[in-house]
Amino acid sequence: MHTTDALSYDYSVAKCFLFAAILFGIVGMLLGVVIAFQMFLPNLVSGFLGLLGLESALGEYLTFGRLRILHTSGVIFGFMLSGIFATWYYVGQRVLKVSMSESPFLMVIGKLHFWLYMILMTLAVVSLFLGISGGKEYAELQWPLDILVVVVWVLWGVGIFGLIGIRREKALYISLWYYIAVFLGIAMLYLFNNMAIPTALVSGYGKWYHAVSMYSGANDAMVQWWYGHNAVAFVFTVGIIAQLYYFLPKESGQAVYSYKLSLFSFWGLMFIYLWAGGHHLIYQAVPDWVQTMGSIFSVILILPSWGSAINILLTMKGEWGQVKSNVLVKFMILASTFYMFSTLEGPILSVKSVNALAHFTDWIPGHVHDGTLGWVGFMTMASLYHMIPRMFKRELHSKKLMETQLWLQTLGIVLFFTSMWVAGITQGMMWRATDEFGVLTHSFVDTSTVLMPYYAIRAVGGTLYLLGFFLFAYNIIKTVRGGRVLDKEPQNASPVAA
Ligand code: HEM
Ligand code: HEM
Repeated sequence: MHTTDALSYDYSVAKCFLFAAILFGIVGMLLGVVIAFQMFLPNLVSGFLGLLGLESALGEYLTFGRLRILHTSGVIFGFMLSGIFATWYYVGQRVLKVSMSESPFLMVIGKLHFWLYMILMTLAVVSLFLGISGGKEYAELQWPLDILVVVVWVLWGVGIFGLIGIRREKALYISLWYYIAVFLGIAMLYLFNNMAIPTALVSGYGKWYHAVSMYSGANDAMVQWWYGHNAVAFVFTVGIIAQLYYFLPKESGQAVYSYKLSLFSFWGLMFIYLWAGGHHLIYQAVPDWVQTMGSIFSVILILPSWGSAINILLTMKGEWGQVKSNVLVKFMILASTFYMFSTLEGPILSVKSVNALAHFTDWIPGHVHDGTLGWVGFMTMASLYHMIPRMFKRELHSKKLMETQLWLQTLGIVLFFTSMWVAGITQGMMWRATDEFGVLTHSFVDTSTVLMPYYAIRAVGGTLYLLGFFLFAYNIIKTVRGGRVLDKEPQNASPVAA
């Protein structure tokens, strides 16, 4: 088989992960919208269940606490990771100039990777619904599922290095460095953070799936946020930059602006991110030097972060007209802009005096969602949009729908983060306000009720984003089912029907 012919690559695994990303995106974001409404209508779900006579049977499973974990796990480990896997199985073959189908072993590994991942996600959803959680944020799964995570991850690693092993292209393109970094970074962090002792095995007591962390107290907190922050680094950032470096040049037909800048940003990101996790523990019961180090490294982190973003923006030098004419380029440039935005906001939040105001307030979920919705969500959807005509050999269904989606979602993001900024700063100021005798001016209830209008605005913003995601799913399904058949692969910009 002539494998350097673009149409002969094997996309079966990439397609499976693409549909998984859409499925988990819908479920995860729908849950996000439900919990956003619950924040100002706390009886919304229980009232609805009451009408159906199901409150006593289901009420426990649909509380904010349960649904929040399902939202974060669904969007991060369901939507985003599936997006990273889907793009890897597409990009990997193309930059290495080798088809997966040339190795029956790699095909089996790829399929096993997908199916075990689906089994893992199903078990994760069921266990989290049942309230089975280790209690560490973004690392809630209990030890039997942690072991399955390791198996799934190792399979992905075998796939990555196996494909690199049989490659035709000697040079490793920039995106590959980033995919390899996602694999190695998460492997190391996940293993360390989830070291735990199954209680039933050592003491004979407790549920069989229960375990206690190997670390205790302040050490546990430090390991948790070393992991937690770097989950942000290696999943929310590194995996998405991998996509940006491949898909923007492909979509625009422009070469990456500077290879040197990409090297500088890559190694800068790798080195600096690993020391920044302490910014989650400012003014907590951990050593002062850990907090200061976290704060300083976070401020320095702006350099490699903006290095990547500027490199990407300069890639469009002389071709800015495409931002107007090509919706996918617009999606990607907006994604890079949101990346610059959240990586400016992050260092500001890491300054001790700012964090003293912002920590525990709604400013933090505001920061989280300008990054995740604007940067991660936009870039993931744009990458999948780019891949579809090439994988299914069909013209994208509708450009108008893409454009409508883009503006609906941009408006949604703006409503989300602006409302959370105002809410967070209001909350922080009210918590610290004292009268002339040093007595707190506001009761905690006052500080909560004053936020209700902002929670309502956030819920509206989230709903707009979700509606946009439905348009995305619809556009893709219409393309796959009935898009005009293409006889050859589009070279740069994706062809669209209308
Ligand atoms: C230079 C880069 C960044 C820095 C220095 C930074 C810094 C911070 C700080 C200081 C916090 C608040 C900690 C607290 O007081 O609770 C935070 C929270 C968070 N950030 Fe960032 N951030 C950066 C980029 C990003 C990006 C690009 C994303 C997502 C795409 C992101 C996602 C998050 C998440 C999910 C949390 C919440 C963690 C939690 O408490 O559960 N960050 N970040
Ligand atoms: C329709 C869109 C979405 C809505 C309405 C939404 C809503 C919410 C709400 C209400 C919370 C709880 C905040 C709190 O506890 O105060 C939350 C938390 C979170 N969401 Fe979303 N979300 C959406 C999409 C996403 C996406 C796409 C991602 C990631 C790719 C994401 C990642 C997170 C994370 C990491 C947290 C935890 C933040 C923290 O601990 O500070 N969300 N979301």
